[in-house]
Amino acid sequence: MLDYEKTYVESIKNPEIFWENIAKELSWYKPWDKVLDWKYPYARWFVGGQTNIVYNALDRWQNTDIKNKTALIWVSQEQTERRFTYGQLNEEVSKFANGLKSLGVKKGDKITIYLPRIPEQFIAMLACLKIGAVHSVVYSGFSADALKNRVEDAQAKIVICSNSYPYGKKVVESKKNVDEALKENKTVEHVIVVERMKSDEIRQSQIQSDKTSEKNSDSIQLNPIPSDFIYIWWHELMAKQSTECPTEMMESSDPSFILYTSGTTGKPKGIIHGHGGYMVGIYATLKYVFDIKPDDIFWSTADAGWITGHSYILYSPLINGITMFVYEGTPDFPDIEIWWRLIDKYKVTKFYTAPTAVRALMKFGEDHLKKYDFSSLKILGSVGEPINPEAWLWFYKHVGREKLPIMDTWWQTETGMFMITPVPSVKLKPGSAFKPFFGIDADVVDDKGNKVPTNTQGYLIVRKPWPAMLLDVYNNPTRYKETYFEKIPNVYFAGDSAKIDEDGFYWIVGRNDDVIKVSGHRLGSAELESAFVSNTKVAEAAVIGKPHEVKGESIKAFVILKQGVVPSDELKAELVQTVRKSIGPIATPDEIDFVEKLPKTRSGKIMRRVLKAQELGLPVGDTSTLES
Ligand code: WT7
Repeated sequence: MLDYEKTYVESIKNPEIFWENIAKELSWYKPWDKVLDWKYPYARWFVGGQTNIVYNALDRWQNTDIKNKTALIWVSQEQTERRFTYGQLNEEVSKFANGLKSLGVKKGDKITIYLPRIPEQFIAMLACLKIGAVHSVVYSGFSADALKNRVEDAQAKIVICSNSYPYGKKVVESKKNVDEALKENKTVEHVIVVERMKSDEIRQSQIQSDKTSEKNSDSIQLNPIPSDFIYIWWHELMAKQSTECPTEMMESSDPSFILYTSGTTGKPKGIIHGHGGYMVGIYATLKYVFDIKPDDIFWSTADAGWITGHSYILYSPLINGITMFVYEGTPDFPDIEIWWRLIDKYKVTKFYTAPTAVRALMKFGEDHLKKYDFSSLKILGSVGEPINPEAWLWFYKHVGREKLPIMDTWWQTETGMFMITPVPSVKLKPGSAFKPFFGIDADVVDDKGNKVPTNTQGYLIVRKPWPAMLLDVYNNPTRYKETYFEKIPNVYFAGDSAKIDEDGFYWIVGRNDDVIKVSGHRLGSAELESAFVSNTKVAEAAVIGKPHEVKGESIKAFVILKQGVVPSDELKAELVQTVRKSIGPIATPDEIDFVEKLPKTRSGKIMRRVLKAQELGLPVGDTSTLES
C-alpha cells in the first residue's frame, strides 16, 4: 500500500528528482540535459529532451505483447461496437497522419478537430501529434460562431468534422456549422468530413423526428456534402494511405495542442500544452491516483472537447498501456440505465465521471442500478466541480457499493493533470479533494500570498511548477502572465477559492473569478454578456452563476433593453436563442430579468458580485466603489 504522507514529503523535498524518476519510465529519442528551467513565469521541463506523446502512446507498444491488446472499445448510441488493438490504432493513426501530410500539413500547423465522440476523434488527435501538428479540439456541441472564433484564433489550416451525428433523439448537423463558420475564413485549406451517418440514416431519423417531436433547431438537411473543392471525405482520404508513418521527434516543450477555455474576458483563451512535461504529468497522475493495472478498462465519461478527454480519456490511458472505454451517447440515452449496463457488460474497472451526472442520475432513485453487476469496478473518480457530500455518498453507496474509494480530482485545463487528489490508499472525507498530489506545492493564501489560518477561505495557489503546466496562452503572453502569475506575485493563481482543514484536507469552494461552471463546463460571464449584446435589442447585460441542484450552477442574466424595446416573454425566448447560437446549447440561460440599471463602479465595470449577493439574499459587502 502506498503511504501518501511519506511519499509526499519525500517528493516535495525535491520535486525535480521525483519527476525525473517518472520521466525515466517513458521513452525519449534523446534524454534531457536539464529537468527544469524555471524562468518566471515560464517553466520548461526536460530541456533538451526529445520525444513525442505518440511515441509513448502507440509506438513503444508495437514490439511488445500490448500490440495485440485492445486500446479502445467504442460503443455507439445504437449499441454497436468498434474495437481497436494497439496495433490497429497505430495503423489507423499512421494512415491519417499520412493523409494529413498529403494535404501539405507540416510540423507546427494548427488543425481544428470538431468531431463528436467517435473513434475518428481520437485517431485525428493522435495523428496530428504524430507529425508534430498542433490540434485544437473544439467541442462538437459548440455553435458555428464559437467554432469560427476558435478556428480564426488558431489560424487553422485544416478542419475535421463529421457530416451529421446522432445526439440522443436528435441529429446534429455538424457540417452545416462548419460551412457557416468558414464563410469568410482565409486560413483553412481543407475540411475533412467523417461520414458518421449515411444519408439514409439521416433521412430516417428526420422522418422519425418529424413524427415524434417538435421541430428543433438541429433539424437536418439531406445533402450532407457540397461539391466545394476543399471538402474531402475521411474514408476517401484514408483509402489511399500507407500504414507506415514515422513519428516526428519533438523538443520536450514543443506544443502538442491548444485547447480553448473560458476566462474572465469575452474571448476564450487558447491554453497551450507541450509534449514532454505534459506526458510525464498525465502518465504519473493516472497511474497513482487510479492505481493502474495492466488489465484495466478505464472509462472516463467526458468528451475530448474538454481537457479531461485529452489527458485521461485518450493520452494517459494509452501511455499507461491500458484499455480505454468510450460510449458515444449521453447518460440518459437510450435510457438512464445505460451507464450501469455498460459497466456490467464491458467489465469496466475504473469509472471517472462528473458530479453533475451523479446528481442527475440520483434523481431517479436506486432501483435502476440494483440489477447490475459492478464487481469489476475497483475505483471511482469525480471531476469538474466540487462534489457535494450528498452526491458523494450516493455515488459511494450505490455505484461503489460501499467498498470503492472515490478519487475527487481537482485540476484545470491549465494544469493539464490532477493537482489536488487522493490516492486509493488514503482515508477520505466526502466532499474534500484530499491533498496535493506528489511533487505539487499547493496552498491556500490571502491576496498578499500569506497562508490563511486553518478552515479559513482563501485563494488556491501553486508555488512551484509542475510538468503538465500550461506553456502559454496562444498569441497572448500578456494574458498568460496577468491571469496566472500576477494576481499573487510569484505563484500560480488557480482562480478557485478553497479551505484547508485541521487534517490538511483541501475543500474547494468554487471559482473566485467570473467563470461560471454549468454542468462542469466552464463559461465566462463576459463571454455570455457579449452573446446577449450581439442581439440588437439589447443595450447591456450582466450575467452571474447561481447555485443549481443538478447543474452546479445555472446562468442568470440581467438585461437592459435598448430604448423603445418592449420587454416580453417572447423576447426572453429570442435572447435564449441568441446565446445558444453564439456559444452553443451548453450556454442556455436559465433566467433572464429585464432591468433598468446595473450596479457599476465609477469606472463603469459591472459589479457582478453585488448582483449575485442580492440574488442570493446575502450581504452585498463593500459597496464603496459603487457608482449608484
Ligand atoms: C475548474 C477547471 C479539470 C477537468 C475538468 C474541468 C473546477 C475541477 C474540481 C474538483 C472542485 C473542481 C475548478 C477549476 N473543478 N475539478 N474535483 N473539485 N472543483 O476543467 O474546465 O478547466 O475547469 O473546474 O473550479 O478551476 P476546466
